[in-house]
Amino acid sequence: MTINKNKLTTSWGAPVGDNQNSMTAGSRGPTLIQDVHLLEKLAHFNRERVPERVVHAKGAGAHGYFEVTQDLTKYTKADFLSEVGKRTPMFIRFSTVAGENGSSDTVRDPRGFAVKFYTEEGNYDLVGNNTPVFFIRDAIKFPDFIHTQKRHPQTHLKNPNAVWDFWSLSPESLHQVTILMSDRGIPATLRHMHGFGSHTFKWVNAEGQGVWVKYHFKTEQGVQNLAPDVAAQLAGENPDYHTEDLFNAIDQGDFPAWKLCVQIMPLEDANTYRFDPFDVTKVWSQKDYPLIEVGRMVLDRNPDNYFAEVEQATFSPGTLVPGIEVSPDKMLQGRLFAYADAHRYRVGANHNSLPINRPKAEVNNYQRDGQMRSDNNGGSSVYYEPNSFSGPTETPHNKPASYEVSGAADSVAYDHDDHYTQAGDLYRLLSVEERERLVQTIVGAMKPVEKDEIKLRQIGHFYKADPEYGKGVAAGLGLSIPE
Ligand code: HEM
Repeated sequence: MTINKNKLTTSWGAPVGDNQNSMTAGSRGPTLIQDVHLLEKLAHFNRERVPERVVHAKGAGAHGYFEVTQDLTKYTKADFLSEVGKRTPMFIRFSTVAGENGSSDTVRDPRGFAVKFYTEEGNYDLVGNNTPVFFIRDAIKFPDFIHTQKRHPQTHLKNPNAVWDFWSLSPESLHQVTILMSDRGIPATLRHMHGFGSHTFKWVNAEGQGVWVKYHFKTEQGVQNLAPDVAAQLAGENPDYHTEDLFNAIDQGDFPAWKLCVQIMPLEDANTYRFDPFDVTKVWSQKDYPLIEVGRMVLDRNPDNYFAEVEQATFSPGTLVPGIEVSPDKMLQGRLFAYADAHRYRVGANHNSLPINRPKAEVNNYQRDGQMRSDNNGGSSVYYEPNSFSGPTETPHNKPASYEVSGAADSVAYDHDDHYTQAGDLYRLLSVEERERLVQTIVGAMKPVEKDEIKLRQIGHFYKADPEYGKGVAAGLGLSIPE
């Protein structure tokens, strides 16, 4: 059969006679329902959108590869890290968190840093941010937290009262708030920022021995940020500034790259470290656990189609491969449910068989059917287990490593409450000018808050991190430090 790419067809492949004039009863008569080509066009158009991501709705993506530069097989049996020089294709999606799909790129917000590695042992997703910590440390607070970042139910406006009320009543947010309000809160481009896995994960080697691990992607372009006035101007002039920059850089062959490093903690240290290493509001000191290089990620290909590749991409912290496991981090545990659930709702039950999400590794299981099943659905192969027909079988050596748990089932917080030391350490690390800009940004962001009670409570947190920090914000807001 000859294929004529220039011949316009219906979605069923039949040639279209007229794509400019709908069929009417006479030249001035009503439109005829028998014009099924018109009906199909209008109906399909109505269905062009899938629900946008409830968070991280605005994003940009790129393809690339990951190459191992150092042998860490003593820590993990993950196949894609098994030898120096090994390359694995990957896809990344960068995003802002709070804005809608059409919102501006240059706002003050953490940036999502979601990486999908198409390994030979299945997909591995590392769904992190450009910050090493997060605002909260228990998944049960996430919906409330995000409500404060989104629009007010009546005014449909962003609401600084809710933002600072929540943060001031959730002092575990202080570390991330300090990062967000610092110069790093608005990256110059998506290429000029680091990425982090943020959570603690577990690596397990071929002997079944585990270590705790944290991931750091170090930008080879250097860290660069936007001054708030430049960012505000760009937000108006070119809301897609970061999206455009990434696309153009790759298009011009200026391929951005990151070094992937890890921090490794022996399992037993988790019981004695000076805070709980699973608490995602804390960083591990690099003096205690230095960065070890693993490999290099290079982005060298733009998506061919935004919707197919970026909008339909589904990343989940639970998409893991043998050798990489979860930790008891209470946020990570909640995320293991939230993402796959969002994907089934947003993209559909068979989202993982779409080309952008489909593993390069072979998929063999007993799942069948469901909406939009677009592969051969397992064909005539055996569709249940156990069976006597040589269906795929489990590989017990790929079970996650077992680990001891103890204690009563209960709703409990992490057992340490020092939300101040690390935020204060970060403040003290900044230069005088950086501190001034930090305080200025916070003052600007807190000014619209109506209740002094909220401002004073938050100033108290800044003060506990570093008295100078608290005093600076208080002075900027014309308030005196609370008792
Ligand atoms: C996206 C939930 C914490 C990074 C999402 C989505 C949901 C979600 C439902 C949309 C997924 C989709 O529609 O495809 C949660 C919950 C959290 C949490 C319940 C806490 C319990 C975090 C943390 C990080 C993070 C701590 C980073 C360290 C991201 C990123 C995306 C995302 C990067 C966008 C992924 C993409 O590009 O498709 N989150 N999140 N989230 N989240 Fe979270």
